[in-house]
Amino acid sequence: MAKSSKTKTALRLRATKTVYDSWEGVYRRHKPEDLPWYSPSVHPVLKAVLDRIPVTQGGALDIGCGLGQVARYLAQRGWSVTAIDISASAIRKAKQLTVPNATITYTRQNSLTLDPTRQFDLVVDYLHLHDIQPEDLDKYISVLAGMASDWIVMGYLCSKGHQKTTRPSQYFEGIVTQHSRSEISAALLPLGFRELAFDQCALRGASTEYQCDIVMFRRSSQATVCREVQQ
Ligand SMILES: C[S@@+](CC[C@H](N)C(=O)[O-])C[C@H]1O[C@@H](n2cnc3c(N)ncnc32)[C@H](O)[C@@H]1O
Repeated sequence: MAKSSKTKTALRLRATKTVYDSWEGVYRRHKPEDLPWYSPSVHPVLKAVLDRIPVTQGGALDIGCGLGQVARYLAQRGWSVTAIDISASAIRKAKQLTVPNATITYTRQNSLTLDPTRQFDLVVDYLHLHDIQPEDLDKYISVLAGMASDWIVMGYLCSKGHQKTTRPSQYFEGIVTQHSRSEISAALLPLGFRELAFDQCALRGASTEYQCDIVMFRRSSQATVCREVQQ
């Protein structure tokens, strides 16, 4: 590799490390209840979407699990859950909130370095997608889709129109992207996933209310045998 190219790679790695590792600072600085996404139990709108999946067993991956309320709900439903988050403090607190025999494996891991050959029946990304930096988004979505053998459920801050919008995060040192539903569906369609269910919810921050899309996708080859989910 040429020297300038090596330098660029090193600088990019350092920048990426800063953006994503700043999450550790978020969980150290704030009490859970002060974080707008925190909830002791799974959000009712997300719960209603998850409950429409007609199976409750198999392997589920919760990406950016935070304090683990989604992982706990999935485990309670019967899924064998792998929950990952980049913040060691989030993982530690999530473990403390989990009953000892729940089938959840928590791991501190960067979602950008997930092993794309691992397969899960269900992959959930709840409120993590909008924190992926714009230059990493395409790669992230293709890895996420590659790991999902059947279902994907996503929740993300949504834009008001059909265009995505970006702004600096109030919490970590990076960019937050508010996505549009059509853009996310268009990204997943060529990777084999079709939208089966959609809803929206509002999250209350310190001074603002955030609108979120909650979308369920299924691999196209499976989508036709599951019309009841759409009803
Ligand atoms: C807005 S919070 C949502 C947390 C959780 N899903 C919830 O609903 O409470 C985003 C989470 O993604 C995690 N995160 C951010 N970037 C990450 C990355 N590259 N890999 C893994 N986790 C990441 C953060 O540490 C944080 O816990």
